[in-house]
Amino acid sequence: MQRLGAGMAEATTGRVQRFDVDRVRADFPPLGEEVRPGVPLRYFDSAATALKPRSVVEAVRECMADYPANVHRGLHVLSERATEAFEDARGKVARHLGVDDPAQVIFTRGTTESINIVARSWGKMALRPGDAIVVSELEHHANLVPWQLIAAETGAELRYVELADDLEYGLDAFDRLFEDGRVRMVATTGMSNVTGIRPPIEEIARRARERGARVLIDAAQSLAHERLDVAALDVDFAAFSSHKVFGPTGVGVLYGKRELLEAMEPVLGGGNMVLRVERHRAVWNELPDKFEAGTPAIAEVIGLGAAVDYIESLDAEAVARHERTLLNHAHEVLGAVEGLRILGPSSTEGKGPIVGFTVDGTHPHDLSHLLDRSGIAVRAGHHCAMPLHTKLGIPASARASFALYNTVGEIDHLAAALGSIKTLLRRR
Ligand code: ALA
Repeated sequence: MQRLGAGMAEATTGRVQRFDVDRVRADFPPLGEEVRPGVPLRYFDSAATALKPRSVVEAVRECMADYPANVHRGLHVLSERATEAFEDARGKVARHLGVDDPAQVIFTRGTTESINIVARSWGKMALRPGDAIVVSELEHHANLVPWQLIAAETGAELRYVELADDLEYGLDAFDRLFEDGRVRMVATTGMSNVTGIRPPIEEIARRARERGARVLIDAAQSLAHERLDVAALDVDFAAFSSHKVFGPTGVGVLYGKRELLEAMEPVLGGGNMVLRVERHRAVWNELPDKFEAGTPAIAEVIGLGAAVDYIESLDAEAVARHERTLLNHAHEVLGAVEGLRILGPSSTEGKGPIVGFTVDGTHPHDLSHLLDRSGIAVRAGHHCAMPLHTKLGIPASARASFALYNTVGEIDHLAAALGSIKTLLRRR
């Protein structure tokens, strides 16, 4: 197994590219810390929230310290500086998503709010009784509950792509949902937060479009691991959260096609989203302001801009290769732990670097507590994906999720700690 330290990897171009994981790790302050004396942190919870590089922390600090003014309002120096940095961040996000027009990038509080805006606003405008919305059994609650709410309100029906027993996403099951011609929206995750499974979003988008349905990609988990080019995919909406792509919490993004965003009604009313307010009516502002009522999370948006810079400063191919090595290694060594069952396909093909698992005879919460004693951070619970856990017939699971700063050595520690826990629990 290749160890990645100051690693070297052969690129498909024939160029030799370096991915220096030690250098990357030095950018993330908690990775140099001990959680208890003599116990270094081993962080496998990036799917819950990614660690933040120093450049993001510094961008937020600089805004707070040097220009803590409101945006789009003042005509003074500090406000102009804040507005410029804020809009600059919007431009960076737009470019990162392959979007020419930054006005199609709306800042929200996170993926959840972004999807709620689409369900509420687009849903109210477009859905009629008997129409259908397609999701899959892999979805996070953030891409389920908003659709349940709007389905109940409009008389639309929520349909699920049934997964195979090993959780594979089958396009035949997807196609069957279109037979009556009632599907108006396909809302799909780009990567399951429990299993790392990546539905074939290119093909899903193509088939949905061909049948006249809109497409929303929930990129909350995928964007830290792979680019999402919304123009190339030709999707109608996409949503993600800053904090999962190495940025601050409290800010997310909704991308939408201009004609749809223009036709949609705002969800929140207040300052900034209006051009004119009379006593009994108001005229909405232009995009993106129409969907950005109130004072936004200014420093956090600027931090997100720094996070995008950070991601783009790295060699994406080398990062992807490193993460693939981590995932393959995790499947190999975790799969060898007695009684450990990896959720989903045993193959790592078509998966992102997330491993959901159970261990016979132990509750995931106990596992998580015991691992924490060794400085190992994993998540346990239903991971806001209860329908997926119901399908699997389990109430909860444990999850190790990896990011570009993890190493195979850390994964060996995780496997060894899980092995020791098994032995300890057997003795009791
Ligand atoms: N959605 C986040 C997770 O999967 C919080 O952990």
